[in-house]
Amino acid sequence: MFTPPAASTQPDYALLARQVSSILEGETDLTANAAQFSALVYDTIADLNWAGFYLVKPAKSSSGDTQQELLVGPFQGKVACARIPFSKGVCGASASQRRTILVPDVHAFPGHIACDSASNAEIVIPVIKNGELYGVFDIDSPSLNRFNEEDQAGLEAMVAAFVAATDFT
Ligand code: SME
Repeated sequence: MFTPPAASTQPDYALLARQVSSILEGETDLTANAAQFSALVYDTIADLNWAGFYLVKPAKSSSGDTQQELLVGPFQGKVACARIPFSKGVCGASASQRRTILVPDVHAFPGHIACDSASNAEIVIPVIKNGELYGVFDIDSPSLNRFNEEDQAGLEAMVAAFVAATDFT
């Protein structure tokens, strides 16, 4: 079945990126900015069921080695999986490949981690500042084919505004 793109719900991403900078102006704290950013995305972009961060942390199971994994951070939506290895899921793929992963149908993505059975499409954007990977920003939708290249570019610009405003050290 053909699922048309949700053209009528396409947000003004240029305006949203400016709003990110304006909302986060004067605040550099990671937790505060990540919470505000998640709330803005979830509130202003239609047809989502999860939006939030997974942040790079030392792996819990590592015994003295330098393994890393993703730990859930500020988000909006239902309770999610807490820890994701770099080798698993869409989030792990985005973190390990350091690039945005756009998934039109999560059921066709090998290794997808189903935190919420309502999710059908997903986009994950890496959070990188000065060459360092600090995490990923993950967005889920209940609609198949929810995200297109325009969404990708717009969301990457929003994440870039968040990264510019935030101190990760
Ligand atoms: N689906 C993600 C896991 C995180 S939840 O969607 C919030 C993945 O496959 O990495």
